[in-house]
Amino acid sequence: MKRNTTYIHAGSHPDPSTGAIMTPIYQTSTYVQQAPGVNKGYEYARSQNPTRFALEEAFAKIENGNFGLAFSSGVAATDAVIKLLQPGDEVICGNDMYGGTYRLFTKVFERFGIVFHYVNQQEVENIRKVITDKTKLIWVETPTNPLMNIADIQAITTLAKEKKIITCVDNTFASPYLQNPLDLGADIVMHSATKYLGGHSDVIQGALMMKDQWLRDQLYFIQKSCGAVPGPQDCFLVLRGIKTLHVRMQRHCENGKAIAHFLRDHAKVGKVYWPGFEDHSGHAIAKKQMRDFGGMISFELKNNSVEAATKLLSSTKIFALAESLGGVESLINHPASMTHASIPREERIKNGLSDSLIRLSVGIEDVEDLIEDLRNAIG
Ligand SMILES: Cc1ncc(COP(=O)(O)O)c(C=O)c1O
Repeated sequence: MKRNTTYIHAGSHPDPSTGAIMTPIYQTSTYVQQAPGVNKGYEYARSQNPTRFALEEAFAKIENGNFGLAFSSGVAATDAVIKLLQPGDEVICGNDMYGGTYRLFTKVFERFGIVFHYVNQQEVENIRKVITDKTKLIWVETPTNPLMNIADIQAITTLAKEKKIITCVDNTFASPYLQNPLDLGADIVMHSATKYLGGHSDVIQGALMMKDQWLRDQLYFIQKSCGAVPGPQDCFLVLRGIKTLHVRMQRHCENGKAIAHFLRDHAKVGKVYWPGFEDHSGHAIAKKQMRDFGGMISFELKNNSVEAATKLLSSTKIFALAESLGGVESLINHPASMTHASIPREERIKNGLSDSLIRLSVGIEDVEDLIEDLRNAIG
């Protein structure tokens, strides 16, 4: 099957009892057994649910993996990956990533003795320098949220394999439509399925995909033991979302490109962060590992004051001021006070995330309306 066919058919099998073409929402907590231990393979819905299993099969296929696991949120999926580790183990991650991931690492897992090193992953040498014999995991987010920095997945996974270190790539910003980290040597792919996979801003969910059976078994054990599983209704919504991923992503990319260029040409706009620009520091690598450049864009105004940014953020009519991304509707966000507020200010500024940075999740509306909205708001 080619990719676009896969998005529509992955995990979907006509329901055995009725022939329903859409996977039913198995809203049940348990399953009746014929005798103790004699059952249809379903015992308790934290461990097994047919709607979730259909989605997990789809997760595996859309990332070219053998296995998929669904979680109650993106951070719950990240949490499961870190629970593969022991106290004293070390993780190397980026110094520019989603604020909630940073919060989970610094505020929760550091207390359990996991050691995190935050480096600029645009240079693989920065990773090599902090590897010790305790390094067990490299956590990569590319493109990064919100600065759109690019890490070379293949170069990192080659180094990781040499040192027998697991690599997990947060592929939320790209989506499987633009980038498939397992094909580039990653061991695990993580998604906030809340974003492009769901695609309609109506569900919170996380995903892990992998090729390796041992990793799958460990992560399945963590999934059922820790219990951060999504409900069947949410699984249904994400399964339905995936069916249109390719058509949505195509439009996100087209609109994203037009808006990135509009912003760059605007007299009042300063720096625009979008990996599709030829002079973006990660453009060559993005071109190598991504199929297009997506609809996520960050920018600063030339009047780089918090007041000017706040005025713009409060002035758009179509772009809604809200956290999150990847839905069909366009969103505008202020990372410093919203999605990345959990990162201490000095840390943020040091890594290039200014107080006045604005992030856009470009939706799939008519691009002329989106540009007009931004033009009016910028003034
Ligand atoms: C890149 C990235 N990773 C992970 C997450 C966490 O996902 P969730 O909000 O579904 O828990 C987010 C959420 O914004 C994100 O943007």
